[in-house]
Amino acid sequence: MADDDSTDAGGAIESRLTEQEYLRPPTEFVGQANATDSAIYDRFDEEWPDAFEEFAELLDWEERWDRVLDDSNPPFFEWFPGGTLNASYNAVDRHLPERKDQTAILWEGEHGKTERIAYQDLYRRVNEMAAVFREVGVLEDDIVTMHLPMVPALPVSMLAAARIGAPHSEVFGGFSAQAFADRIDDAGSDVAVTIDGYYRRGEFLNHKEKADKALEIADSPPDTVLLFTRGDDLHEDVSIGSDDPYVLVDDVLEDKRGAEVDPVSRDAEDTLFLMYTSGTTGQPKGAQHRTGGYLAHVTATSKYVLDIEPSDTYWCSADIGWITGHSYIVYGPLSLGTTTVMYEGAPDFPHKGRTWEIAEKYDVDIFHTSPTAVRMFMKWGEDIPRQYDFDFRHLTTVGEPIQPEAWLWYYEHIGGGDAVVVDTWWQTETGGHLITNLPALKDMKPGSAGYPVPGIEPAILDDEGNEIEPASGQAGNLVITKPWPGMLQTVYGNDDRYINEYWRAFSDTSSDDPKDWVYKAGDGAVHERDGYWRIVGRLDGVMNVAGHRLGTMELESAVSEVSGVAEAAVAGREDEERGTVPDIYVTLRDGADPSQEIRDRIVTSIVEEIGKFARPANVWFVDELPKTRSGKIMRRLLEDISNDEQLGNTRTLRDPSVPDNIRQMVHE
Ligand code: WTA
Repeated sequence: MADDDSTDAGGAIESRLTEQEYLRPPTEFVGQANATDSAIYDRFDEEWPDAFEEFAELLDWEERWDRVLDDSNPPFFEWFPGGTLNASYNAVDRHLPERKDQTAILWEGEHGKTERIAYQDLYRRVNEMAAVFREVGVLEDDIVTMHLPMVPALPVSMLAAARIGAPHSEVFGGFSAQAFADRIDDAGSDVAVTIDGYYRRGEFLNHKEKADKALEIADSPPDTVLLFTRGDDLHEDVSIGSDDPYVLVDDVLEDKRGAEVDPVSRDAEDTLFLMYTSGTTGQPKGAQHRTGGYLAHVTATSKYVLDIEPSDTYWCSADIGWITGHSYIVYGPLSLGTTTVMYEGAPDFPHKGRTWEIAEKYDVDIFHTSPTAVRMFMKWGEDIPRQYDFDFRHLTTVGEPIQPEAWLWYYEHIGGGDAVVVDTWWQTETGGHLITNLPALKDMKPGSAGYPVPGIEPAILDDEGNEIEPASGQAGNLVITKPWPGMLQTVYGNDDRYINEYWRAFSDTSSDDPKDWVYKAGDGAVHERDGYWRIVGRLDGVMNVAGHRLGTMELESAVSEVSGVAEAAVAGREDEERGTVPDIYVTLRDGADPSQEIRDRIVTSIVEEIGKFARPANVWFVDELPKTRSGKIMRRLLEDISNDEQLGNTRTLRDPSVPDNIRQMVHE
C-alpha cells in the first residue's frame, strides 16, 4: 500500500511520465510473471495460426484437434476442429488430484454471509446440478436461459449446463422481465433458472417477480423454471402458485445428493454459451461462443495477461452476467485452478472501504475492475484505501478507455507503485482479450490499451475501408484482420446478422479467401507512433454506461412506446464517474405537452424494457430533432450538445437552427 509520502511519489511519477510516458513493470513482478519471453510475439507472427496450439495445450482434451484453424468458409471460422473436450471438466474435475481442498470460489455475500467453495465442493455441486438439469429434461444442445445475480448458484449452473453439453445463456440480473423474456424466446429455452431474490445495500430484492412477469409476456414461456433460494428456504416475501412452472432446486436436489454426471464430450466447435449483447438495432443479439477456441483463449489470456497462478487469490469485480465475468471470473480463472472471488454487494455498502476490506480479508493478489470504479474510488479519496492492509501484484481495467489521471491514481494508491497495471481491450464478441500488454514484456503506458495479444492482427481503416498507415497516430475504424480462437461463431440463429454487423462493412463478402474478411469492432482507435494502440470509443450506437453495454436503439425503442412520444433520439454524454450516460431527446405528438408525468413514463418504460441500470441522465423535450434533408436524425449533433462541444458539420441539416435552439435549452 501507498505510504504517507504518496503525494510526493505521485508527483515524481507524473514528472517521469512527461519525460517518457512509459513506466517499466516492477522488477518483482517481472521476476515471477507467467510470460517472460518476448519471442512469443514473433513466434505467433511467424507460426500463425499454428502457434495458437500453445493456448489450446493449456486445456485437457479428450481428442486432440486435427487442425488449428479451418478457414475455408469465412467468416464461419472453425477452431481446433476434430478436437473434443468438456469445459466443466477443465474448470473443475482436472484440478481434483492436485487441489481438491483448495478454494475454488470465495463468495462474499451481503448480509454477512460468505461461502468458501473448495474444488471438491464445486465438483459436488456442479455434478448435482447437472443431475437436476437432466431430471427436468435438459438434453445436450438445449439452451438453458439463466437470470441469476452474483450468487454461487450462477457459476455452478453454468458449469453444470456445460457438463451436459447444454449451452447456457445467462441474462445479467439487473435486466428486466422483458429482457429476460426476449432472451428466452430468442433462444427457445424450455428450461430457465432464477432465484427468489438477493441482497443489495442491505435490502432483499425480490428477483422472482421478474421471472413471474417474464412467464406472462414471453411468446413461448419455458415449461420449467428452476428456482434457487438465496437463504436456506424460500424467502417469506416469495411464493409459488400451484400451477406455476417453478421447481425448487432444493427439492430436486434432495434425491441427487452425491450424484455424479459424466462430462459430455463436446466437439471443439460445439456451442458453450450465448451472451446477448447490444448492437446497432433495437434487438439484442446472441453472441454464440464455441467450446474449444473460447476456453483456450480465455485460459491463455488469464495466464499470460492476468498472470494468474493456481496459488493466487484473484478478484474480478465485474458481474458474471456480462462477458467479463464469464471469461474472467468463471472460465479462465477456474480452468487455471486458482481461487476466484465473487462479491454479491455494492462497493460502498455498508461503507466506502468495502472493496479494500475484502481485498485485505482474502489477501487478494490480482484485482480486475473498470475505469468507472477507479474514478469512483478516486473521487472518494485515497484516505479510504489507506486504512486497509492489502497488497496487489497485478491490477487490471476493462470496459472503457482509462484516462491517464485515473490510471496513475490506481497505480499509485491501489498498487502502491509496485503492482503492474494492465488495460485490456476486448468485447462480448471477441470472447477474450485482444489488445492488452503481456505485462512483463511491455512497458506500461497510461491511457493506452497497449499491444495486441500475440497472434491478434488489428488495423485501422478509414471510412472507405482503406488501411491507415500502421503506427501513423491517426484515428480510424478498429478492425481485426485475422480470426482468433475466442471469436464468436455467429449471432445465434441469424448468420446474416453476423455477417452484416461484423463483416460486411470492410470485407469482400463474395470472396472465399479469408484474407478478404475483416472484422469490424465498432470502436475507433489510434495506432500510435510507438506501436501502442489507444481505444477512443464506440463509433456506432453502442454505449458503455458504468460498465454496462447498452444500445441507443434499444433505449429509443423503449421511449417510442410511451404514448405521447413522437420521436426519440439518444445521445451519450461523457460523465466523469460513469463513463457515458444516456441523454434522451424527445419530440411529442400534437396534443401532448411536456410534463413530469411523461418524463416518468419514459423512465419507467426504459426500466421495464431494459433495466434500472439503463436509466437516462436527462430527458429533454424538444420541438424538433436535428435531421438531414433526407430525414435522418443526426445523433452526433445531439452528442455535441450533450457534451457542450462545438457543433460538428450542420450543413446537411434540413433546418440548421435546430441544434442551437436545443443547445440553449440544455445549457441555459
Ligand atoms: C469498450 C467488455 C477502451 C469498447 C469486455 C468495446 C474498451 C466495448 C475497453 C465492449 C478498453 C472494452 N478500453 N474501451 N480497455 N474494453 N471497451 O461487449 O467500446 O461489454 O467495444 O465487453 O467496451 O463491451 P462489452
